[in-house]
Amino acid sequence: MTRERDTAHPIHELLRRRWSPRAFADRPVEREKLLSVLEAARWAPSSNNEQPWHFVVARRERPEEYARLLGCLVEKNQTWAKAAPVLMLSLASTVFSRNGKPNRHALHDVGQAVALLTLQATALGLYVHQMAGFSVDAARQTYNLPETVEPVAGIALGYLGDPDLLPEDLRQREVVLSARKPVGEFVYGEAWGRRAEWVR
Ligand SMILES: Cc1cc2nc3c(=O)[nH]c(=O)nc-3n(C[C@H](O)[C@H](O)[C@H](O)COP(=O)(O)O)c2cc1C
Repeated sequence: MTRERDTAHPIHELLRRRWSPRAFADRPVEREKLLSVLEAARWAPSSNNEQPWHFVVARRERPEEYARLLGCLVEKNQTWAKAAPVLMLSLASTVFSRNGKPNRHALHDVGQAVALLTLQATALGLYVHQMAGFSVDAARQTYNLPETVEPVAGIALGYLGDPDLLPEDLRQREVVLSARKPVGEFVYGEAWGRRAEWVR
């Protein structure tokens, strides 16, 4: 089931195809594909080329590691994410390696790496669902994170599954693609909140 968005202006079909499912197929992600997805993250731009991203990656083939990562997610996310063959946690080094000063773009850069990872996944027929719903404390403890490393987001990765296997409330959300604000609502010209006149 490939679904595409109706966009107001033309965008790349990879972007039109991407969405965040909760139903994942019982099919492993090939090691080569997983490596390509992470390679895409590797080539993200970043402030000072600091590359502040890190990923804990848990594959179902290694049940103990998988259970550790699943256990960091909030219960609601666990109900569907437990079907994904790969779970990840993105992490940000929040200080520059060369001088230990705060890197205020670290979270931005990690998000950007995940965006590239997501598009590479889409190109390979895979789907990504990111999650804010995890316990930061559990992540810190489970992975013994240093102070200067911030857990950012959970990530479920896999092939699309059957929405009918989801609990009813999630199934209903699965069948409707999410909407977006129009471009004119978030692009400004002269000042904050002042719509750029060239945007229609
Ligand atoms: C950083 C981030 C955190 C998110 N957290 C959750 C989450 O905890 N649980 C969940 O079910 N979806 C989560 N989502 C998915 C969003 O709800 C989803 O991306 C949004 O509704 C747009 O839908 P789409 O990705 O299908 O276009 C998250 C997405 C992002 C980018």
